[in-house]
Amino acid sequence: DWTMDSFVEQTVKSIKKTVGDKKAICALSGGVDSSVAAVLVHRAIGDQLTCIFVDNGLLRLNEADTVERVFRDKFDINLIRVDARERFLSKLKGVVDPEQKRKIIGNEFIRVFEEEANKLEGVEYLVQGTLYPDVIESGSKVASTIKSHHNVGGLPEDMKFKLLEPLKNLFKDEVRLVGKELGIPEEILYRHPFPGPGLAVRVLGEVTEEKLDLLRQVDHIFIRELKEAGYYNKVWQAFAVLPDIKSVGVMGDERTYAYTVALRAVTSSDGMTADWARLPLELLDSISRSIINEVKGVNRVVYDITSKPPATIEWE
Ligand code: XMP
Repeated sequence: DWTMDSFVEQTVKSIKKTVGDKKAICALSGGVDSSVAAVLVHRAIGDQLTCIFVDNGLLRLNEADTVERVFRDKFDINLIRVDARERFLSKLKGVVDPEQKRKIIGNEFIRVFEEEANKLEGVEYLVQGTLYPDVIESGSKVASTIKSHHNVGGLPEDMKFKLLEPLKNLFKDEVRLVGKELGIPEEILYRHPFPGPGLAVRVLGEVTEEKLDLLRQVDHIFIRELKEAGYYNKVWQAFAVLPDIKSVGVMGDERTYAYTVALRAVTSSDGMTADWARLPLELLDSISRSIINEVKGVNRVVYDITSKPPATIEWE
């Protein structure tokens, strides 16, 4: 695509000119925007860019490995992968309130990011995947924060970086085209939106490692089957939720008492309103069977048939 081609060329030129021989950092989430921004800036300044990826233990199955494989191995980007799983989990111990979870996760992210950034010397620029709609939405405030509705919440005021926002005139579909032009895999470019607090707001009530592990397996099967059936790209978001419910079941001659999991799939154009996805019953049946067969500790699968409003897309 010639327009994307010239966008990349011109943006690379202008980033080079702006940054000169200084250094830049980037908080990589594995989402579309930060990924495209990182690869674009890397094309301009190479090793002067360092990306920080925080594994908070609240990610989907294999997500951290995918990020590492793509950005370090494929693009040869300086990548710091921080294993902060223990830190986040211990901070979340005993916490059940959703907004409390969000606050804790946002704050902890800032701490981890700051610690890593402080280990690097002479960093002057912070790369952000701000898009045009974010600029409109948040007005001038966006200049001092990492998009608060995106991954993380604000960075502390005393981190005086200059911002590099190479995507700030683009819409989402244009960002995907740029990403394609840059060779970023579709797996990343067409991934469903994923909330910053991650699986912590999909494990209802207290977050434990056991529950996260179980949810990760269920979610993986759901997504795998949606992809196989050609439905993944037809929905806005699809994911599994683990309510704090155990129910009675029967397996062979045995009575079971195990977790109920809920599946959520919605269509939407912007996430503000959403309709529950009318997935074929045969597909739901197959997904339910796979989950019960493959995931120990689950004996019941339910499908969320509520639209937004009145429900939200997430359960917390
Ligand atoms: P709700 O649940 O409010 O979600 O209907 C609308 C969209 O926003 C995402 N979402 C979040 N994203 N941090 C995020 O980065 C959050 O705390 C958060 N809460 C919800 C949700 O996945 C959906 O795409």
